[in-house]
Amino acid sequence: MIPAGPTGLRFLGVGSALPPKILTNDDLTASMDTSDEWIRERTGIGQRHIGGTTSGLATEAAAVAMTRAGVDPADIDLVILATTSPDYICPGTAPAVARELGLDCGAFDVSAACSGWVYGLTIAQGYLMQGMGRILVIGSETLDRITDYTDRGTGILFGNGAGAAVVEADPRGPDAGGGALLGWDTGADGNYVHILYSEHDGVLQMDGKEVFRQAVKAIVRSTTRTLEMAGLGIDDVDLVIPHQANVRILEAAWKKLGFSMDDTVEILERTGNTSGATIPMALDQALHDDRIAPGDNVLFLGFGAGMTWASALVRWAES
Ligand code: ACO
Repeated sequence: MIPAGPTGLRFLGVGSALPPKILTNDDLTASMDTSDEWIRERTGIGQRHIGGTTSGLATEAAAVAMTRAGVDPADIDLVILATTSPDYICPGTAPAVARELGLDCGAFDVSAACSGWVYGLTIAQGYLMQGMGRILVIGSETLDRITDYTDRGTGILFGNGAGAAVVEADPRGPDAGGGALLGWDTGADGNYVHILYSEHDGVLQMDGKEVFRQAVKAIVRSTTRTLEMAGLGIDDVDLVIPHQANVRILEAAWKKLGFSMDDTVEILERTGNTSGATIPMALDQALHDDRIAPGDNVLFLGFGAGMTWASALVRWAES
């Protein structure tokens, strides 16, 4: 593959949504042999949200993103929805979201588990390069529908939520203050299908230790490839917005890469692992906390079932 070089990309608005019902670690002790202390120490998770629907949460997050972007339904040309917990096996969930938002455009789902939103961003970039105007890239999950909250090996981890971004092409180029996708990487290894999966009508089954090991490897490999494409190093990254499965996975990967948790957006404590929704929700949090300045290099980093992984280094537009 020949890297195409930096291509213009600008975030116009970001939003997120969480269903109101909260399941705390203490709540889980009623249905499994665990404790708040164990879950916090081994994962970093304090609570997760449950309830809602994947299309409903996606619509809510996207509506906020569109309002913040200052765009109308007629301005959106495509909906890309990353989810591993769609409303139906068929059809995809994105068309229902487009209908609820009053959009008249293409709409499809991306199924790449926790890497799905970053896959979606790279797909969006391809469309933008072909002249498309504005694209909604959403991640939305209702993992409570495929989680067994009596199984202490998996039930402590997963929750629901959605995040969305409106993106458009930025013709200015990074040297003229424009936003850009400086580098990216997508990958998959189907040898690891059975370390994390759910059958139809089933619940998530996981070999937690193997997921941990493979996730650390994928993070290191994908980050390295993306930085190589961008021609940049670890020190050039201003903020990392990673998928959040377990704080210990990030700490192990950061030791190898040289990032610190100070450079990292963390929402896991209050949301649990929300698969494809995690990264856009964490982006929303980072913007809310003023952690992204114009011209910053922001690394999005997804990894999850498949195994799949995806990373994207974005130069934040200066205006
Ligand atoms: N509460 C209390 N004790 C527990 C729990 C629990 N919820 N779960 C396991 N234990 C016990 C075990 O039975 C074991 O006891 P023993 O020593 O008496 O046999 C002990 O704690 C240690 O168990 P491990 O399985 O070794 O615990 P580990 O430190 O590996 O943590 C965990 C388990 C949290 C699942 C970890 O392996 C993990 O996070 N793996 C990554 C999985 C993941 O993040 N998946 C997310 C989806 S994929 C993605 O998004 C990338």
